[in-house]
Amino acid sequence: MTAAKGIILSGGSGTRLHPMTAATNKQLLPVYNKPMVYYPLTTLMLAGCREILLIVNPGDVEAYRRLLGDGRKWGLEISYGTQPNPGGIAEAFLIGREFIGDSRVGVILGDNLFYGASLPAVAERGAQATDAVIYAYWVADPTAYGVVEFDSSGRPCSIVEKPKHPKSNWAVTGLYFYGADVCDVAAGLERSARGELEITDVNAHYLRAGRLSVERLGRGYAWLDTGTPSNLLRAAQFVETVEDRQGLQIGSPEEIAWRKHYIGDEELEKLIEPIQKSDYGKYLHRLLTQD
Ligand code: TTP
Repeated sequence: MTAAKGIILSGGSGTRLHPMTAATNKQLLPVYNKPMVYYPLTTLMLAGCREILLIVNPGDVEAYRRLLGDGRKWGLEISYGTQPNPGGIAEAFLIGREFIGDSRVGVILGDNLFYGASLPAVAERGAQATDAVIYAYWVADPTAYGVVEFDSSGRPCSIVEKPKHPKSNWAVTGLYFYGADVCDVAAGLERSARGELEITDVNAHYLRAGRLSVERLGRGYAWLDTGTPSNLLRAAQFVETVEDRQGLQIGSPEEIAWRKHYIGDEELEKLIEPIQKSDYGKYLHRLLTQD
């Protein structure tokens, strides 16, 4: 089986973060010591995706290219697509249709940060499955999310977008895996009242067809979104707390590329050279000497 491809949906207008997002795309803002987009990018890398499509606003392509380039420095193939307006998460499958081809595909939202010891295994399972796979996370207030209801045998039985009276606390997170047929599913959707192609409608389609599996991310995981100033600060504090305590970085593409043998010692050394004075460069250098 060929490896799943990955899409990062990194457009949006970031209105809740204004004025931070007046001149910069949300996902280019820092979460502590890295651009936000590094976190979803590395989640896809951990899932095993090496061909990645970044969907960004038309005016932001150059900035993303400066940051990520074509991905080769990290052993990836990164290409770019544009979304003129935030018309919904499921638009990713229309914009990315050619990129997806006949491959399985993972989509991750550019402002979602996942963390947990079993995350690589859980994400890899999603990338390698045949059914649609989505991830649910227990939150105190699920009303702002798609909410999954489970029947008495633990199978998902309904998914409702932003319910006023949620049937459970299990929110649908911003990481999804589908077969290539998702492009046809998305193409067949009607726009919702808010004018979007809804990912919840895609998931409801697979649920009705009996082809949706919902992985519950239990207590040992963190799923943070960074859409409001407080959430952005909390995510930064989370990363700082864990990194400072362990002396290990969360969401470093260089480290993951090196650990997965996408790049070797020499390539990593070359990446370190221009940034050796930064704490980040020093950290990467320590990997080479410690491991
Ligand atoms: P949102 O937080 O729903 O939207 P936003 O980023 O524009 O922010 P705000 O609500 O403050 O205006 O988007 C969640 C993530 O999904 C974010 O990473 C952007 C991405 N996204 C797109 O790239 N395109 C879209 O059409 C939508 C709906 C979201």
